[in-house]
Amino acid sequence: MSSEGLHAPRERLSSETIAMHQAITSLMEELEAVDWYRQRADDCEDPALKEILLHNMREEMEHAAMLLEWIRRNNDDFAHELKDNLFKEGEISGQHGHE
Ligand SMILES: [Fe+2]
Repeated sequence: MSSEGLHAPRERLSSETIAMHQAITSLMEELEAVDWYRQRADDCEDPALKEILLHNMREEMEHAAMLLEWIRRNNDDFAHELKDNLFKEGEISGQHGHE
């Protein structure tokens, strides 16, 4: 694996940290792809190609969601925050302080 993006010597990182780094990096790439496909679709003049680009964008969203689910299952702190913050009614911020 490339050490690109690591901020400490690889030998000092746990295997859990390395796996989380791989998941987070992959999630960032999927979200970037969502953004790029959406922008490209906005800019596309061909209606059929535009639909393909939007379809691809949705697939990237699925990829991002799968990675987020892996992160949830493998990190209790993330799981706690996701449980507290996702699929809630009302104001997104200000419901609770940091715990
Ligand atoms: Fe993807």
